[in-house]
Amino acid sequence: MSTMPAERPGAAAPVLSMRGVSKHFGAVAALTDIDLDVYAGEVVALVGDNGAGKSTLVKILSGVHPQDAGTVNFDGRDVNIQSPVDALNLGIATVFQDLALCDNLSVVDNLFLGRELGPWRLNEGEMEVQSWELLRQLSAKIPSVRIAVASLSGGQRQTVAIARSLLGSPKLIILDEPTAALGVAQTAEVLNLVERLRENGLAVIMISHNMQDVQAVSDRVAVLRLGRNNGTFRMKDVSTDDLIAAITGAAVNVVTQRAAQAGTAGTLGKAGVPPVRPPEAAAAAEEGSVQ
Ligand SMILES: Nc1ncnc2c1ncn2[C@@H]1O[C@H](COP(=O)(O)OP(=O)(O)O)[C@@H](O)[C@H]1O
Ligand SMILES: [Mg+2]
Repeated sequence: MSTMPAERPGAAAPVLSMRGVSKHFGAVAALTDIDLDVYAGEVVALVGDNGAGKSTLVKILSGVHPQDAGTVNFDGRDVNIQSPVDALNLGIATVFQDLALCDNLSVVDNLFLGRELGPWRLNEGEMEVQSWELLRQLSAKIPSVRIAVASLSGGQRQTVAIARSLLGSPKLIILDEPTAALGVAQTAEVLNLVERLRENGLAVIMISHNMQDVQAVSDRVAVLRLGRNNGTFRMKDVSTDDLIAAITGAAVNVVTQRAAQAGTAGTLGKAGVPPVRPPEAAAAAEEGSVQ
C-alpha cells in the first residue's frame, strides 16, 4: 500500500488546480492553504468531518464566496471567480444538496428553466428531444420528461439536477452529497451516473460522508481536516481505516501531541496516514513557535 500522496504522473495538466487557497469568516479559519488538483475524466471525492471546510471550498469554486488568498487555475489559466455566473461561464457546474428543482414543473421544464430554446417562443419539441438525449447519455431511468419532478424518486431528482447542470457543457461538475438521503437502489443509480460523467470526460468533485460510496466511484480522495489538507490518496491504495484516520485525525495521539509540543511535529504519523498536527500545535504554528 502506498503511503505517498496520490498524484497522477504523466497525465495531462489538471482541469482544476488550487494552490494555497485560504478563507476566513471573521476569526474562523474555514480553509487554510488548500491545494487541490482535479483532472478530466476522474472523480475526486472530497471528504472530511463536519466543519472541515468542504462546503467553503465548493462555494469558492462556484462563485459564492471569494477566497482570501491563493490561486485557482482552471483549464490552464488563473481565474478569478467572483460570482456564480463566472463559475458557470468558466465551465464549473455545482449541484448543491438542495438541488433547487421546481417540484410543480415537469422534468423538461426544470432542465430548461431560464434557458428555454427558440428565438420567439419555447420550442417544446426540441427541448423534449434534447432532454431525452441528455438523459440517454446519462443512462438515466426517468419514466417521462413530461411528468412533474414532485413525482420522481430522490435518485431521479438527483439525476434531473445533474442533467440540468450539464446543459452548460461544464468541464468540472461538483456534487455536494449526491447520495445523502437516498436508499440503496437509488444510491446505486446515482453512482452509475457519476461514472457516466467520468466516462464523458468530465472532472468530478464529489462530496460525501459515505465511505462506501466514495470507495465505489472515486479515483482519488482528498481529505480536509480543520480547514487544511490532510492527505490525498489514490482510492485503490488506501484502506477504509486509513481514510477514516485521516478524516478524524486518529493519528493524533498523546505521543504525537507531545512531539508537536517539543517541536518535532510531523515525524510520527501513523503508517499510511500523513502526519497531522493537533489543534494546539496548529495554533502554535500560526504564531511561529512550531516548525
Ligand atoms: N458563512 C459563514 N460564516 C461564518 N463561518 C462559516 C461560514 N461558513 C462556514 N463557516 C465556518 O467555516 C468552517 C468550515 O465550514 P464548512 O465549509 O461548512 O465545513 P463542511 O462543509 O466541511 O462541514 C466551520 O467552522 C464553519 O462554522
Ligand atoms: Mg458542508
